Amino acid sequence: MRIVSTIAEARGAVRALRTNGRSIGLVPTMGALHAGHVSLVRAAREQCDAVVVSIFVNPTQFGPNEDFAKYPRTWDADCALLESEGVDLILAPIATEMYPAGASTFVEVEGVSDRLDGASRPGHFRGVSTVVAKLFHIVSPDKAFFGQKDAAQVAVLRKMVRDLNFDLELVVCPTVREADGLALSSRNRYLSVEERRQALVLSRALQRVEERVAQGVLDAATLIDDALAVLASEPGIRLDYFKVVDPDTLEDVADVRNSALAAIAVFVGPTRLIDNAVIAPPR
Ligand code: PAJ
Repeated sequence: MRIVSTIAEARGAVRALRTNGRSIGLVPTMGALHAGHVSLVRAAREQCDAVVVSIFVNPTQFGPNEDFAKYPRTWDADCALLESEGVDLILAPIATEMYPAGASTFVEVEGVSDRLDGASRPGHFRGVSTVVAKLFHIVSPDKAFFGQKDAAQVAVLRKMVRDLNFDLELVVCPTVREADGLALSSRNRYLSVEERRQALVLSRALQRVEERVAQGVLDAATLIDDALAVLASEPGIRLDYFKVVDPDTLEDVADVRNSALAAIAVFVGPTRLIDNAVIAPPR
């Protein structure tokens, strides 16, 4: 496994991996790796000949009062994990490589970037689409792997790939959860034992919605009321949003007759957690 920190080295290493027409899979991450990230790496391993993982805590996707400085950084453990997963190349650029002094070019996917997390975190998706576009340019992967856990991010990046004609396939992998339902997240490390318990209300609310849809309740307003009732049972948390939206445009839908995305964000103490479920009416 090679580890590189400059873009020039990354381009050279990728060129070497690509010999004899070998395909390249890219897994972009911010490190603090967990089983959710590993599921993306394994999918890339299965579908591509060589796997590149980027580790970069991207400053442009954090707001001024967010957790950039304290975002967990677990470099040694991340490298050991990726080595054991048979990853070919880690790209871990320093910030000035990704954003040289004076850089003033950004990628903004208008509309969709202002919805869900984009509404709560202004500028967040501009940072995400900019850094992912740069990684796509540097690595030129055949496939890039992302988690359904960040469904709004997927919607933004899908549109970016289409709008900017990136010649790659975006592969979306299912959300990996703990046995009790909590979606894995690097930010789960911030939770106290009590907050960890409170955080289960996210998956409980989504489960409730899935049950109601299975019973034939398709009206979005009713489903939202049901979810809010579950969320109200956990007074320790603060709701950011619960929405039922079109998975591509992230716009509210009135009903779930076509498949829809139920998406939730809450603050548990100071920690913001998100989760979602794709819901489709029973056949
Ligand atoms: P990060 O939060 O490190 O996540 C990297 C990838 O892992 C994302 O595609 C995310 O959706 C996926 N992931 C996280 N938790 C998951 C889970 N429980 N199950 C399945 N996949 C999961 O998302 C980012 O980094 C950044 O925004 C990035 C795309 C790297 C751009 O900076």
